[in-house]
Amino acid sequence: MTHTPHRILPRVAHLPARSSRLPDDSRIRKGKQWPQSQNATRVKEFHIYRYDPDSGESPRMDAYCINLDRCGPMVLDALIMIKNEIDSTLTFRRSCREGVCGSCAMNIDGTNWIACTRFIKDIPGAVEIYPLNSMPVIKDLVPDQTHVFPSTPQSNRG
Ligand code: FES
Repeated sequence: MTHTPHRILPRVAHLPARSSRLPDDSRIRKGKQWPQSQNATRVKEFHIYRYDPDSGESPRMDAYCINLDRCGPMVLDALIMIKNEIDSTLTFRRSCREGVCGSCAMNIDGTNWIACTRFIKDIPGAVEIYPLNSMPVIKDLVPDQTHVFPSTPQSNRG
């Protein structure tokens, strides 16, 4: 099944429908508050944009609480921890984890950033995460990069 991407504007309450799959009055709604891990003493809250075009529902912001004593220092570490231990449906890209490939680019705390190079400790309060604000969204934090990298003509491939 193909996904029809749509564009979002972070921190904008009302989203114009840019896809036939989004409801006409689509808005980012409040999502699920996932339970906090027990016995955690250093907790950081993450608010993460969720959108599944197959659901037929508007995007939502889910809230997750991360035990910083069990998590690596980077925002990408927290996303991986969420996916592995709290919510396996969270979708994002990542590859090198060294700030090289750019696949984990997303909007973190209001700025487009590489999640594997952004320290959690540098973000005051809850961490707000959206997909890149300049591209259509395929699902959750995954943007449609179809037109980012123009195809290379066969004759230039060596
Ligand atoms: S995973 Fe490659 S830049 Fe973050």
